[in-house]
Amino acid sequence: MSIDVSMQGRVAVVTVNRPEVLNALSSELLEELLAAFRGLADDDECGVAVLTGAGERAFIAGADIAELATKTPLMARRYSEHGQDLSHLLETMRKPTIAAVNGYALGGGCEMALACDLRFASTTARFGQPEVNLGIIPGWGGTQRLARVCGLGIAKELIFTGRVIGGEEALRIGLVNAVADPVLDRARETATLLASKSPIALRVMKELANRALGGDHSANLDAEGDTFGELFSSDDAKEGLTAFVEKREPVFRGT
Ligand code: COA
Repeated sequence: MSIDVSMQGRVAVVTVNRPEVLNALSSELLEELLAAFRGLADDDECGVAVLTGAGERAFIAGADIAELATKTPLMARRYSEHGQDLSHLLETMRKPTIAAVNGYALGGGCEMALACDLRFASTTARFGQPEVNLGIIPGWGGTQRLARVCGLGIAKELIFTGRVIGGEEALRIGLVNAVADPVLDRARETATLLASKSPIALRVMKELANRALGGDHSANLDAEGDTFGELFSSDDAKEGLTAFVEKREPVFRGT
């Protein structure tokens, strides 16, 4: 197994563990990651999932280039779908996902980080979409999500040039939420905070926020209003509002 999953309280940490190739994702590894995140998506004991890489040097240095070099167009199309299944799951699973980027996040690594809800970077983190240098393009969501996170002009510059940037620049362009060492501690701290919130409120906020940059603005606002109303039938909303009035900390149960 090249994936380690550990659980501390309601926070799961998934570590890609293939440091000999800077945690590059082979098809097999992609399959393992998908299985791990599908398991966490269905596990009510897990409130927040963190993705990171083993070793000092890399988060994920991208798709496995040695494997890519052997692919036919049809195989490459499937490989793209495969990676997009994982990025789509990170983006849409009904609980927050956080990337703790501890080194190279290139190509597919940057794309997996972009699919997470939040991103934290170590001071040694390096981000980029260098596919253009291989004569190919990002295939796991990079042409779309980078623009959604950082804006179209910046995204085009980074995917056209393949330029690799450090954590401070990533922070400046909005690619990461914060730069901190040790980055996994920083990610765990936020994950633990989120795990104490209402899982129902987090789930619906994630769904609504994911609609913010697409679709019809009025329809999205209507959906927010409907969801706001529906939430008042939840125990968590009653608990949160009552706890404030009673001047105590709320205890959310996800019901
Ligand atoms: N796929 C397969 N193997 C990879 C890899 C990848 N994406 N990234 C790194 N590796 C392997 C290297 O081939 C090398 O293997 P070796 O020891 O058997 O030669 C090992 O990981 C260490 O990498 P190396 O290139 O020696 O380290 P470096 O410090 O000189 O450079 C990088 C680090 C990340 C700049 C460089 O490895 C690189 O450019 N990787 C490719 C990044 C990329 O283009 N990703 C997008 C893929 S679509």
